[in-house]
Amino acid sequence: MSKSGIKVFAPATVANLGCGFDILGLALNEPGDEIIARKTESAGQVTITKITGAQGNLPYEPTKNTAGVAALAFLKKQRADFGLELEIHKKMPIGSGLGSSSASAVAAVVAANTFLKHPLHRRELLPFAIAGEKVASGSAHADNVAPALIGGIVLARDVDDIHRIIPPKSLYVVVIYPKLQILTSEARAMLSDRVSLGEHIQQSANLGGLILGFERSDFPLIKRSLKDIIIEPQRAELIPGFYDVKDAALVNGALGCSISGAGPSLFALCENTFIANNVAQAMTQAFQKHKIESTPYISEVNKEGAKIF
Ligand code: HSE
Repeated sequence: MSKSGIKVFAPATVANLGCGFDILGLALNEPGDEIIARKTESAGQVTITKITGAQGNLPYEPTKNTAGVAALAFLKKQRADFGLELEIHKKMPIGSGLGSSSASAVAAVVAANTFLKHPLHRRELLPFAIAGEKVASGSAHADNVAPALIGGIVLARDVDDIHRIIPPKSLYVVVIYPKLQILTSEARAMLSDRVSLGEHIQQSANLGGLILGFERSDFPLIKRSLKDIIIEPQRAELIPGFYDVKDAALVNGALGCSISGAGPSLFALCENTFIANNVAQAMTQAFQKHKIESTPYISEVNKEGAKIF
């Protein structure tokens, strides 16, 4: 890269992690998006010069593009005396439940930050990336953006109150992306805003147990807690074969399995790489039985988040 150009990778993420709707997420090692950014003299302006890997599905107009909005918000707040040219290289499917829009927004802001005389700390970049995410999903939640930015498993207690959770060392994440597309905005609009007291109690117990299970590397506790009784039953109908694929994961030793973000991808957490490989194969075959092609990803939890090259 030349002095005025920089490349940033931001990883795919699994949001919700079952019982942590809108507040829990983790980063994967791959896939992820890349952004190449160059400084321009047009203060506060963003131009998107190239988009690859999106099959013409993403807008070049910066105010409509997640990366563009995130970069614009950042430049404005910092009163930057420069502008940016962005190349967006999508290296993961859009509308897949892998946090594609968050990855682009995070990569754009991390890139923009490197051009400041006094760059902000990673966590301070969160609100700008969230602004970008909001364009795609219609709401401001940090469960994809935060892990893409700082890595690890993250609890977003609020959009400006994020906490790293230490994952068990040998934890593996399997993600299966079926070739279907679900719009996050639609998968959110379909959700009921009513939860019974009994459901609230059970979901809260699972969330507490899951976080404690991660911190203590207590696999049986993770297994008992990785359950979503509120959102998953409502969204499962969007994914043909969902319950068969989930069963395939559990029968083959996964600690738990649910929808990744708003779907259609499913994720499963596994105690080790051997189980993860078996689970990935079984889940892929289960989708095949429903005549759905899918792509598996197996990854440890990504501990660093977005990376500057
Ligand atoms: N928590 C979000 C959802 C993630 O499930 O709708 C997708 O942006």
